[in-house]
Amino acid sequence: MKFALLFIVSVTATAYAAEPIIVADFEGSDYRDWRATGTAFGTGPAHGKLDGQMPVEGYQGKGLVNSFLGGDNATGTLTSPSFKIERKFLTFLIGGGGWADETCVNLVVNGNVVRTATGPNTTSGGSERLEPGAWDVSEYAGREAMFVIVDQRQGGWGHINVDQIVLTDDRGATPIVVPPVPVAKNVTRDLIIEKKLLHFPVKTGAKPRIVTVSVDGKVVRKFDIELADEDAQWWAPLDVSEWAGKKLTVIADVLPITSKALDSLQQADTLVDSGNLYQEPLRSQLHFSPKRGWTNDPNGLVLYNGEYHLFFQHNPYGWNWGNMHWGHATSRDLVHWHEHPEALYPDEQGPMFSGSAVVDWNNTSGFGKDGKPPLVLIYTAAGNPTVQSIAYSLDGRTFTKYAQNPVIKQISAGNRDPKVFWHEPTKQWVLVLYVETPGKQHTIHFFNSPNLRDWKLASVTKGGIDNDKYLFECPDFFELAVDGDVSKKKWILTAANSEYAIGTFDGVTFTPEVSRLTDVRGIGFYAAQSFSDIPNNRRIQVGWSQAPSPGMSFNQLQTLPCELTLRTTPDGVRLRREPVKELEVLREGTNQADSLANFRSELIEFRADIAPDQTTFFEFNLRGAKISYDSIKQEIAVNGHRATAPLINGKQKLAVFVDRTMLEVFASDGLTYVPMPFIPNPLDQSVLIGGNNGANVSKINLQLYKLKSSWTRN
Ligand code: FRU
Repeated sequence: MKFALLFIVSVTATAYAAEPIIVADFEGSDYRDWRATGTAFGTGPAHGKLDGQMPVEGYQGKGLVNSFLGGDNATGTLTSPSFKIERKFLTFLIGGGGWADETCVNLVVNGNVVRTATGPNTTSGGSERLEPGAWDVSEYAGREAMFVIVDQRQGGWGHINVDQIVLTDDRGATPIVVPPVPVAKNVTRDLIIEKKLLHFPVKTGAKPRIVTVSVDGKVVRKFDIELADEDAQWWAPLDVSEWAGKKLTVIADVLPITSKALDSLQQADTLVDSGNLYQEPLRSQLHFSPKRGWTNDPNGLVLYNGEYHLFFQHNPYGWNWGNMHWGHATSRDLVHWHEHPEALYPDEQGPMFSGSAVVDWNNTSGFGKDGKPPLVLIYTAAGNPTVQSIAYSLDGRTFTKYAQNPVIKQISAGNRDPKVFWHEPTKQWVLVLYVETPGKQHTIHFFNSPNLRDWKLASVTKGGIDNDKYLFECPDFFELAVDGDVSKKKWILTAANSEYAIGTFDGVTFTPEVSRLTDVRGIGFYAAQSFSDIPNNRRIQVGWSQAPSPGMSFNQLQTLPCELTLRTTPDGVRLRREPVKELEVLREGTNQADSLANFRSELIEFRADIAPDQTTFFEFNLRGAKISYDSIKQEIAVNGHRATAPLINGKQKLAVFVDRTMLEVFASDGLTYVPMPFIPNPLDQSVLIGGNNGANVSKINLQLYKLKSSWTRN
């Protein structure tokens, strides 16, 4: 049967092609002169699937090599006798685990592995089907070789299936397995530190490598990074200023032997390509984003010594999430941000996950000095165990981790994102923590402390279960006056997806009066936090906007700071949000609504007060973003994404900010907020207005501003 098949193959080949040579078809009852080690291969070929295995298909005849004998944990090797390479290609069928070096087949010539291939699977699911593979072996013509089947992997997909190993001049439709470039392990480079920054070459999408940086024999940094073996797409800076004059050893766990990654490391005092900083094509100009790398949640928002601090989840070395640090930026006006070196690096307790910051005015922590109140950061160290820890600063620039960290031990593996505030009526600190409890219940744990160091569990509020994200991660908790009446205050508990509850709080227990209100109605807004220690009872919030900047050396951004208030509506008391007044400094000149036809701007603030009459449907086109309002349905649509937006006193009040990678739309006088990732066409800088039944500009109270970039002061 098998020979017949091969015969057909050979007669369809070119007239000069020699007959294929079968190296092995595994049709016998044992492995003949092949040599097995370990237990995974047994003493002879399998006939299909083994105990506990999914169905195995795609092999030829009755027998095949199947190293699932004894399950995934069994290991071993199976080696052919020596054979001569007398044809151009070596073809085979292969399935099972996709682990390089561990579940693979190797061609060995003169003691060296010259070709290798793996099965396709590394994640659960997948298929046990064998697929054809082929190596071009013409360069070894006439040499002796051995075929080695390897299973050195335990756990998921820790086995390999092989059949029908054939030398042939005609590989037919069988795809060639590209020979892998040989790799070297623990590739090392020593450098004497002469500059502030050490730049690593990055290619987004390249295979991540683990890089270890040591000084005086001690590991000082460890991270993963998509190192560029050839030309860098961008350069990730590592701050090495604290090791000036010392020898630094950089080790990459694995690199192709041809990689130039470590040779190309460069030292400089400034960023590579710094002349272009903040002018990159997809650098949003109204919103904060890190100079280099990825950001997600805003952290530790606080006003300290006249500066607003924005810490943020930061991967300094990659375009995607990972290596969580606390990045750091400050601003004197909430508009112009200046980025500083990393505030918190990962340490033995793990990566630095989200948290908050407070000014310890009364020095309850004892971290203050000479009458200066300390700035205290409270964060999650997400190692195993995952714990809550603190750090402090007296200058708002350098941060010292508390020697007795952690301050709260692990409750469950997923506990995280501490939000801390001073509760004046009970004169104590309160910490609000997300904790997943048994039964996969999302809970918020409340703790009390006199000094930010010693915490006692006070109460627990329950949210959703398992996939229900209600009160899931990144809690924020604050008090607001209803309709500006300070004698009528309510506590608001928000979660990462911005659902919220309103209720009362006595310093120990939160008692919700209404639960599960929907706040943000846009796309990609997550993990918002509000500033601590802001005067005049202002509650200012910033969220993570999941707006990508493809192809750039940075990714994602923080939303505009917004002021939160509580307003009574026909449905009850609701959160309302407006962009902070401070943003008005970005207006370039005055309202230009009267010259709509000639208006051109890349960055736009658009405000419209609409009183619908016979016109019930309005359409605004801002640089290609389509925003429409239907006053009958009382609904807004932003690029087709709909959200309820009631008329307030018969009017619709809109505000829209247009930036390079996102839009922020505020409707119903701030009761509806629709942020949205959006990359406008750079050539389209116009604003158009239309609608039904003779909509015209004169009926709309319009304000239209060109905006300046917020990066100008950097
Ligand atoms: C939310 C989150 C947090 C966590 C952080 C890690 O986006 O998952 O719960 O602290 O991001 O970056």
